[in-house]
Amino acid sequence: MNIKFKAETFLEKYKNNELLCPEDTQLYHDSYRYESWLFMIEKMYQIERPICMVETGTSIAKETGSTYILGDFIKNHVGGKLITIDIDENRIESCKEQTKEFSDVIEYIHSDSVEYLKNYKGQNIDILHQDSYDLNLQKPWPSMHHHLKEIVAIYKKLSWDALVIVDDNWFAPMWVDWFWYDSDLSKSSRKRIEITEDIGKGIYVKFFLENLGWKCMSKNIPGKLNNIIMVRQ
Ligand SMILES: C[S@@+](CC[C@H](N)C(=O)[O-])C[C@H]1O[C@@H](n2cnc3c(N)ncnc32)[C@H](O)[C@@H]1O
Repeated sequence: MNIKFKAETFLEKYKNNELLCPEDTQLYHDSYRYESWLFMIEKMYQIERPICMVETGTSIAKETGSTYILGDFIKNHVGGKLITIDIDENRIESCKEQTKEFSDVIEYIHSDSVEYLKNYKGQNIDILHQDSYDLNLQKPWPSMHHHLKEIVAIYKKLSWDALVIVDDNWFAPMWVDWFWYDSDLSKSSRKRIEITEDIGKGIYVKFFLENLGWKCMSKNIPGKLNNIIMVRQ
């Protein structure tokens, strides 16, 4: 079985969810991650050794969350481990419950991601999935800087053939209808935001890695929330 077919077969059972819905099914209009996940899963098959993967920003969803899907893939397909880091202890506890069938391949870390990565002394990381500090489109820079700090903190511990994937990016020109709630959840508001330059968790990460000779392998899909994928040349 070729690697692409193996990767597609693995993703088949997850493709009716928001995270991985293929574009042609039109179930979810605002995000598109299927192709980038397909690329990442293919890469993990190509590495041909037990994977060491780090995820910043833990998921609490069963079957539709990144931690669950990655735990399934590592445990049942390639071996290795997933380290998932989140600053919110409740999310870590909830994730443990949702992913307990894969808990022997998952390390759950309750910490600020940058602090953890700065002090990381484990084996080299093959896949880094960055999806922590949420992006606020009205004030995106704290999130963008946080993800840059993550990659700077861990750069020297990436394997020679590592892949970095960063969630939640919008590419100009486009607009986004941004919704938010008051702190007591009593009222929701909406504002149309024009994206006149690229914004996202991965934009500074991409600049940083490109300056070090890495190549961007993801497409910029207009009108969608995109992942950025970077590999060493
Ligand atoms: C978008 S969610 C993660 C979603 C998950 N990766 C998925 O695909 O379902 C972002 C997470 O980042 C966490 N977070 C926010 N700031 C953080 C920080 N400084 N360090 C680590 N995690 C942080 C939040 O608690 C939240 O759980």
